[in-house]
Amino acid sequence: MNLKDQHVFVTGGADGIGRAVVQDAADAGAKVSFCDLNAEKGKAYESELKSAGHRAFFIQGNVGSVEQMQGVHAAITKEFGEVNGLVNNAGRNAYYDPVEMTEAEWDDFMNVDFKSIWVTAKLCLPAMRKAKKGAIVNISSIHARMSYPNYFPYAAAKSGILGLTRNLALDEGKHGIRVNAVLPGFTLTPMVEDYFVKNPEKRSEALAVQPMGRMAQPIEIAKVITFLLSDDASFVNGADWIIDGGLSGRFA
Ligand SMILES: NC(=O)c1ccc[n+]([C@@H]2O[C@H](COP(=O)([O-])OP(=O)(O)OC[C@H]3O[C@@H](n4cnc5c(N)ncnc54)[C@H](O)[C@@H]3O)[C@@H](O)[C@H]2O)c1
Repeated sequence: MNLKDQHVFVTGGADGIGRAVVQDAADAGAKVSFCDLNAEKGKAYESELKSAGHRAFFIQGNVGSVEQMQGVHAAITKEFGEVNGLVNNAGRNAYYDPVEMTEAEWDDFMNVDFKSIWVTAKLCLPAMRKAKKGAIVNISSIHARMSYPNYFPYAAAKSGILGLTRNLALDEGKHGIRVNAVLPGFTLTPMVEDYFVKNPEKRSEALAVQPMGRMAQPIEIAKVITFLLSDDASFVNGADWIIDGGLSGRFA
């Protein structure tokens, strides 16, 4: 119960890695709020968590909209009080040719996968500063270090998250707030399944190079995030942790 009575807020918590983060934080004793685009899945998950005796609150919200996130922040703090732990998880894939991609597509994508990290931090930091305590975990990706062709906006956003994390850690450390990033490798979520459906040859290719002979389950990413949110990680700040089963250690 290393998050006992903490208010943890997770973006994109209805499915995939976010869903596992919500579950693990609730299991660790937290009051967990989460937003997602998918209201049906989010509401159903909230009911499931409550039936299991957890304190959970779901609200629909698009992290790419500043206005919606202001509304989400108002609703979750009304429900559970100020946020003690923020997990910036919501994100989507982006496959584009650098010439073909339009400015509108770039802006839409970056609003979700990059700008939202700052927007949610901006909303949660004032109360964390006042409390002189708080933890933020941003979900980057191994694409911040190595990537695929036609994936350039995703790699750019995930690399940007590392810089944002590092500098927020420098700025907020004096307020007792820790800011860290995790870089998952292949994790079996709807996002990755969708990628394999669109690129069928990649499934066996990706599996063949895994040093552990398999890909991650979402809970294996969530466990590290719960640790980073907790006081057990009290001197971990500005870190970026790869969780890829050793994949990025491979030479070609
Ligand atoms: N799965 C992987 O292998 C992997 C690897 C590295 C990084 N990541 C990152 O982890 C995070 C979660 O990925 P996942 O694989 O669980 O994805 P997923 O698509 O399986 O789940 C993402 C959840 O976020 C929600 N969401 C998407 N856009 C949103 C928005 N604009 N506002 C609010 N909610 C939104 C979706 O509805 C969904 O419930 C993403 O940031 C992703 O880039 C995933």
